[in-house]
Amino acid sequence: MTAAAFGTSDFIVVANRLPVDVEKAPDGTLNWKESPGGLVTALKPILSARNGAWVGWPGAPDVGGEPIEGEDMLLVPVKLSAQEVEEHYEGFSNGSLWPLYHDVIVKPEYHREWWNTYVEVNRRFAEETAKVAAEGATVWVQDYQLQLVPKMLRMLRPDVKIGFFLHIPFPPVELFMQMPWRREIIEGILGADLVGFHLPGGAQNFLYLASKLAGYPTSKNSIGVRSKFGVVTVGFRSVRVGAFPISIESAELAATAKLPETKQRARALRKELGNPEKILLGVDRLDYTKGIDVRLRAIGELYAEGRLDPERHVFVQLATPSRERVESYKVMRDDIERQVGRINGDFGRVGRPVVSYVHRPVPRRELLAFFAAADVMLVTPLRDGMNLVAKEYIACRNDSTGALVLSEFTGAAAELRQAYQCNPHDLEGVKNAIDEAVHQEPEEGKRRVRTMRRQVLQYDVDRWARSFLQTLAGTVDETRG
Ligand code: ADP
Ligand code: F6P
Repeated sequence: MTAAAFGTSDFIVVANRLPVDVEKAPDGTLNWKESPGGLVTALKPILSARNGAWVGWPGAPDVGGEPIEGEDMLLVPVKLSAQEVEEHYEGFSNGSLWPLYHDVIVKPEYHREWWNTYVEVNRRFAEETAKVAAEGATVWVQDYQLQLVPKMLRMLRPDVKIGFFLHIPFPPVELFMQMPWRREIIEGILGADLVGFHLPGGAQNFLYLASKLAGYPTSKNSIGVRSKFGVVTVGFRSVRVGAFPISIESAELAATAKLPETKQRARALRKELGNPEKILLGVDRLDYTKGIDVRLRAIGELYAEGRLDPERHVFVQLATPSRERVESYKVMRDDIERQVGRINGDFGRVGRPVVSYVHRPVPRRELLAFFAAADVMLVTPLRDGMNLVAKEYIACRNDSTGALVLSEFTGAAAELRQAYQCNPHDLEGVKNAIDEAVHQEPEEGKRRVRTMRRQVLQYDVDRWARSFLQTLAGTVDETRG
C-alpha cells in the first residue's frame, strides 16, 4: 500500500452507531443531531486532538455516503440497506449474539443468511475504517456487532494499532460453544492488539476459548481489574486480554443533579406523584435482560403482603423503546404492560396509580431529576455487562441519601458492593432486598451510598478510556490497578 492510500485520522472509534442521530426531513434532506453518550464525551478530547474519526451506522436504512466534517471529529457514516439492518442489526446482533451472550434468557436463533450479512457488514466497517486511518493510527473497535472488524482491518491495514472492547458480558464457555461460527468470532476478535471486557471472568472465558477453539498458546495467570493482563500468542503477535469496567461522567452528573433547577424539578416530580413517603424507580431500555418483569412481580407481591403501602410507596418505571422489530422484544413489552395494568388495577386508585410507566425516552435533565427524586433505585437485570444506570443514580445522590437494589448479575455489582444486592431468579430474595432498602435506617443508607459514591466518582468514564488506551499504547504500569 502506498502512502497516498492512507487517510488522515490518527485516532478512530468504530462503533455500530454514530454519536449523532439522523432525521430525514419530508423533502429528503438529512439533519444530523448530536446525541452525546458517555463514550463520546470521554473520547472527545482525544478525537479533537488527534484528527479523530468515528465510523458508524447512522441508525436508519439507506443513509450514509461521504464522511462529514463534524466539530470535534470526522463522522464516517456506514450505509446499510433495509435488508442489512434486518439481518445484521436485528438478526445476527440482536437475535443471535445478544441472547447468547446474556445467558440465553431467550433462545438465540442461528440463521446462515444472518451470519453472511454480519460478515458482509463487518467487512464494510473495516473497509471504511481502512480508508480514513492515517499510517500507524490507533483504532478502537466497540462491541458485539463488530467482532470480525479487528481481523478484517488488520488484513487491510497491518500498520494500525487495534483495540477491541466488548460492552456486554462475554458468556461462559459452555454457552459460547453453541455458536455455529464460534471459531470465526474468536479469530475475528484476535485481530486486535488489546481485547477488553468489563470483568476478569469474561476475559478469562475468552482466553480459554482462544486456546480451545483456535489452538493459540495463552498465558495461565489470573486476570485482574486494569492489571495482570492475559496474553494470547497469535503467530508472531501478542494479543493482550484485560478487564476494564466502564463507567460514567460521574462529576458532571453530580454537578447537574446539584443545580437548583434539577432539585426544583425533583420536588415537582414528587408532588406530581402525590408526595409519597418513598419513590421507587426503574430506568431501562425495554429489554428482556433488564428484569423489569422481576421487579414488577416483586412489587406486586409486596403490596399484596402489606410490606409496601399503596398510599405511601409508589413505583415509577421509565422504559425507553428498544429494538422494537425483534419478536422477543414485542412479546416482553406486552407482558410488562399487562403486569403494570394488573398492579394498578389491584392497588391503585382513580387518579393515583401505584405504578407510573413511561414508554418513551426521557430527556437527560429530566432523567437526572428522577434520580434526584428517587428514594430507592431498582436495578434487577437477569444479566447485564455493566449497567450504567446504577452508577448514574449513585452519582446523582449528592447528599448520600437513597438506596440501590442491585442484581448480582450485573457488572456493576462487582464495584457497588454496598448496594442491596439480590439474585433476580430468587423472587423472595428480591422482595427482601426491596423491603430492606425501603425501610433502611437513614444512617445505614448514608454509609452505604457514601462508599459507593467514592467508587463511582473515582473510577469515571475518563479513567476507563485512559486505562484502556494507555494499555493499548503500551504505556501503562501493568502492576498497578
Ligand atoms: P444498556 O447499554 O444495555 O442500554 P446501561 O444501563 O448500561 O444499559 O445504559 C443505558 C443508558 O441509557 C444510561 O445512560 C441510561 O441513563 C440511559 N437510559 C436508559 N433508560 C432510559 C430512559 N427511559 N430514558 C432516558 N435514558 C435512558
Ligand atoms: O450496551 C450494549 C448496546 O448494544 C450498545 O452497543 C448500544 O449502544 C446500546 O446497547 C443500545 O442498543 P441499540 O444500539 O441496539 O439501540
